[in-house]
Amino acid sequence: MHNGRQHKNGSIIKVICDNYTTREDVEASWGFSCLIRNHGQTILFDTGSDGVVLEHNMARLGVDPASLDLLMISHQHWDHTGGIYDILNANRNLRVCVPRSFSAHFKSDMKRYGAQIMEVKKAREILPGFFTTGELEGILPEQAALVRTSAGTVVITGCAHPGIVSIVETAKKILPKDDIALVMGGFHLLDDSDDDILQMIARFKDKDVRYAAASHCSGERARNLFAREYGDHFIYLGAGSVITLEDIE
Ligand SMILES: [Fe+2]
Ligand SMILES: [Fe+2]
Repeated sequence: MHNGRQHKNGSIIKVICDNYTTREDVEASWGFSCLIRNHGQTILFDTGSDGVVLEHNMARLGVDPASLDLLMISHQHWDHTGGIYDILNANRNLRVCVPRSFSAHFKSDMKRYGAQIMEVKKAREILPGFFTTGELEGILPEQAALVRTSAGTVVITGCAHPGIVSIVETAKKILPKDDIALVMGGFHLLDDSDDDILQMIARFKDKDVRYAAASHCSGERARNLFAREYGDHFIYLGAGSVITLEDIE
């Protein structure tokens, strides 16, 4: 396979901010942020709600903001953009990938820190093995990240406002030959009924999604239903979680 040189026990994803935690020395906070290491590139996906928590958790998890090659922001909600300026201040001239519909104010504020804004409309490969789904329609436009690994595609969502199943279907269209190893992040199912959530889980299984890791705004019921249906292929994700290729094979 194209990326057979990846080490199975090397971390590919570390969750930096989340409503949940998996370690006592990192803080929980409403929002989401995770670090992706793939093909020698280091990418931060979203920045949580608060730069203080983001910086604290990054330090605990051994992540240096100056080491980032790219920042991707899923959508313009406070619990995903809260730590942006802390990152941009620590890493001037960083490439920042945002949905094209981001407000002009926000874009020009980021440019003050030297940020090189990449505006996303359509699906594309941004770095080797790292894709955006493109700007998908929801209560506001949102992009999800696709990480191509030797274990399959990892789909990372911020809030999944366009719909978690529709994001999975989009991922499958972009990388049709690859299995979906893991779908992780916010699934935004707080207001959905148990029946609706169970139908979504059935759609996940139809698409052969191997592992699920619902966190952030997924809701406790969705976490429990996914855990029940996915068994040991459900990952209780939270700030401090580290995912290796071995975990998702
Ligand atoms: Fe959110
Ligand atoms: Fe959101």
